[in-house]
Amino acid sequence: MKILLLGKNVQVGWELQRSLAPLGELIALDRHSQDWCGDLGNLEGLAATVQAIKPDLIVNAAAHTAVDKAESEPVLARTLNALAPGVLAHEANKLGAWLVHYSTDYVFDGSGEVPWKETDATAPLSVYGQTKREGELLIAERCQRHLIFRTSWVYAARGGNFAKTMLRLAQERERLTVIDDQWGAPTSAELLADVTALAVRQALQRPQDAGTYHLAAGGETSWNGYAKHVIAQAQRISSTLKIAAKEVAAVPTSAFPTPARRPHNSRLDTRKLQSVFGLTLPDWQQGVDRMLSETL
Ligand SMILES: NC(=O)c1ccc[n+]([C@@H]2O[C@H](COP(=O)([O-])OP(=O)(O)OC[C@H]3O[C@@H](n4cnc5c(N)ncnc54)[C@H](OP(=O)(O)O)[C@@H]3O)[C@@H](O)[C@H]2O)c1
Repeated sequence: MKILLLGKNVQVGWELQRSLAPLGELIALDRHSQDWCGDLGNLEGLAATVQAIKPDLIVNAAAHTAVDKAESEPVLARTLNALAPGVLAHEANKLGAWLVHYSTDYVFDGSGEVPWKETDATAPLSVYGQTKREGELLIAERCQRHLIFRTSWVYAARGGNFAKTMLRLAQERERLTVIDDQWGAPTSAELLADVTALAVRQALQRPQDAGTYHLAAGGETSWNGYAKHVIAQAQRISSTLKIAAKEVAAVPTSAFPTPARRPHNSRLDTRKLQSVFGLTLPDWQQGVDRMLSETL
């Protein structure tokens, strides 16, 4: 099987390079790739890449993920998050190939406290959310064999992440202020990549499993709860870590004004994915603790 991976160096793409490798011949690109076009901004180049490689499976991990910046560059965000996945879907369908794509809890308006189901009405609050939603619709319309995984609060050990930022601040400051009215589940790029490979393997045998799935770690927390957990766990793991912070104060979202509005309720109901693919999604603390053990 030939696999085309786009966005090989993004958080999720990096882990997909590992998890997809045993499934077949993997051609992994990013926007700077020389031999083939992996730039989501070049729609013609992207189509030509798919036509030349003729993959059995396309996995798109790249996107315009700068949520605040997207507010001031909606045309670029739409090209990367909607039009490019639309082109991939069209080309994949012509080949009878599968397309795997990632979307987001930001397609919802974040109201209420109940975890969102795949069938709930979407109402994005931001350009990022709107363009990701348009991408979902184009894929579903153009490519029969698709898997769209909506996820939330993604982190990876590689590069910067929320946990590392909190640990740095906790060593520098006596008091941290962290939002406590946005709820979700921190989800590791590792988990996303592993579940993707397992789901793809089943879907190849069962085309009826194509569709949209919510994919996030188990449990829920606020950013404040996440920060407190990270600091406490880091202190358990490392005896040399010097934490200065005596308080992690809870503040509302309004304490940190941003160009893009964020959903308060990012909880995702993942029961459909767990039952269709026979998988278990571990609680969010498991992945965060593992990442801390690796990085500290
Ligand atoms: N991060 C989250 O919390 C989160 C939450 C829900 C859903 N998701 C979705 O999960 C998927 C993976 O996200 P992620 O967090 O792993 O991404 P990420 O680490 O934020 O990286 C996004 C990447 O997209 C790449 N990119 C930007 N413009 C591009 C272009 N024109 N052509 C090709 N690549 C381009 C960038 O590559 P460069 O390094 O070259 O700039 C950037 O590294 C995305 O679909 C995202 O919408 C993410």
